[in-house]
Amino acid sequence: MPKILITAALPYANGPLHLGHIRSTYLPADTFARYQRLRGRDAIYICASDEHGTPIVAAAEKAKTTPQEFVDAYHEKDKEEFERLGFSFDIFHRTSSEENKLMAQHFFNRLKQNGHIYTKEVEAPFCPNCKRFLPDRFVVGTCPHCGAQGIYSDYCENCGKALHIGELKEPKCITCKSTPSAKRSKHYFLRLSAFSERLADWLKVNKNLQPEVTNYVANWVKQGLIDWDISRDMNWGVPVPGEKGMVFYVWFDAPIGYVSSTVAWSKAKGARWEDYWKGDSTKIYHFIGKDIIYHHYLFWPAMLMGIDDGFRLPDFIPTRGYLNLEGRKFSKSKNWFVSLGDFLAEFPPDYLRYYETAITGYDVQDADFYWKDFQQKINNELVANVGNFIHRTLILLRKSCDGKIPELKNPDEKDAELLDSLVKARDSVAGKMEKIELRSALEEILALSAELNKYLSAKEPWKEKSREKVGNCLCISTRGVTTLAILLEPFLPFTSRRIFDMLEVDRGLLRWENIGVELLKPGTAIGEAKPLFAKVSDEKVAELEDKLKKQA
Ligand code: 2FM
Ligand code: ZN
Repeated sequence: MPKILITAALPYANGPLHLGHIRSTYLPADTFARYQRLRGRDAIYICASDEHGTPIVAAAEKAKTTPQEFVDAYHEKDKEEFERLGFSFDIFHRTSSEENKLMAQHFFNRLKQNGHIYTKEVEAPFCPNCKRFLPDRFVVGTCPHCGAQGIYSDYCENCGKALHIGELKEPKCITCKSTPSAKRSKHYFLRLSAFSERLADWLKVNKNLQPEVTNYVANWVKQGLIDWDISRDMNWGVPVPGEKGMVFYVWFDAPIGYVSSTVAWSKAKGARWEDYWKGDSTKIYHFIGKDIIYHHYLFWPAMLMGIDDGFRLPDFIPTRGYLNLEGRKFSKSKNWFVSLGDFLAEFPPDYLRYYETAITGYDVQDADFYWKDFQQKINNELVANVGNFIHRTLILLRKSCDGKIPELKNPDEKDAELLDSLVKARDSVAGKMEKIELRSALEEILALSAELNKYLSAKEPWKEKSREKVGNCLCISTRGVTTLAILLEPFLPFTSRRIFDMLEVDRGLLRWENIGVELLKPGTAIGEAKPLFAKVSDEKVAELEDKLKKQA
């Protein structure tokens, strides 16, 4: 079995995490990682905070603090919020770490040795008033490709294109609004253009990539790739070897953060990081949102090709779209957002995990977060379907069997059919999980739960006179409960553990191969049954809708 390396795009350490990033990136990656571990595979889930770049310097200046102090605070905050959502990173590291500095410099040195990096004098924007160069987000203007205004100089959020030095039209300094002058400066460039053919081939032969993405990335390649300016005249970042006052562009050392964080993890574990990054016995999955396609489908593979150091190219780059809120774009500046903290003050983390998975396909389509839709999904699916079946089973066990697992004797046709359904669901959900079709895997689990509910209702153990039949029905239903708990673990890890705890089953038995298996021997007593989920009330929905409107 190959090793499995899963990464989620590194969040910038400069603002609270938002529900959109969770939906597109961290949650699907976590669900997938949890599934792989349940299967007993050697899978690691790597993330870190992305701590360099001009937005962080600008935000630190505004907060009258240093970039280091600024990112320290956000790193801790993000880490804590991720934990509250149950994200099971094997490491949540940092791009300002020593490991990342060394790895970024190693990439640079090798790329240079291999002839992929050259220097060139450029006319860089310089603010005469602030007396500094204005790289990237220190300057705003108009996109030369699509004409969008208020665009930063390194990347157009409207058309998704990476911008190059001097390309931005009508530039203005973000601090003092002056028009920058051009000042000559030596910069380092990665010869991206030289990788065009190899990139185009790779986009074609790697059938694991989403065609809806590769089609337009291939078009970018066809239009011609421009060499990539990887250095910046500033002090915050990874120093470029042999230069003063010069660091790497944040997008150079950020993806290298995936590797360096694996190095940090491997040191702590006594493992070999190369086993997850190099050779044929590993598979690499980079989960991202569609705003960073350019960087992951072009820059990063070109770096991996160019370093020529045994690195494997990404196997999968699961890419998902944006999340809107009640029909409008999430916007911090327009106060149109729900923060993670706000959400978790009202509902358990598994509600968010459930809802966001239920509205997210394996594609780049945008989705919409509506409080009413959230309420419906929680009430009709989690409460009325899954919660109802599990609660009914446990209560009936208490009432009819003294809270002890009955023995299975002479199962009838319906019983046998249901036991078969558990095993079938295991295989078919696995098939979907392997393909990262998470929403449809979850739908299948819900369908199994509906079947279990139907079985229980049809059997009517509360009316049944035969002790044997009652026992069979509740024995099988309990097996349905443990099966649901295992199947749901990647999606609803907190709920899953609660179910195992209620049944007093050892959590160590939460393993894929235990689906449909008798985990509780006849005669075993189960713990107290408590409802797993609570309905979201109309009043609560009205209150949350109202809050949003008032804050905007
Ligand atoms: O767009 C972003 O939020 C970046 N911080 C993502 C970096 S992903 C990676 F390459 F490190
Ligand atoms: Zn200025």
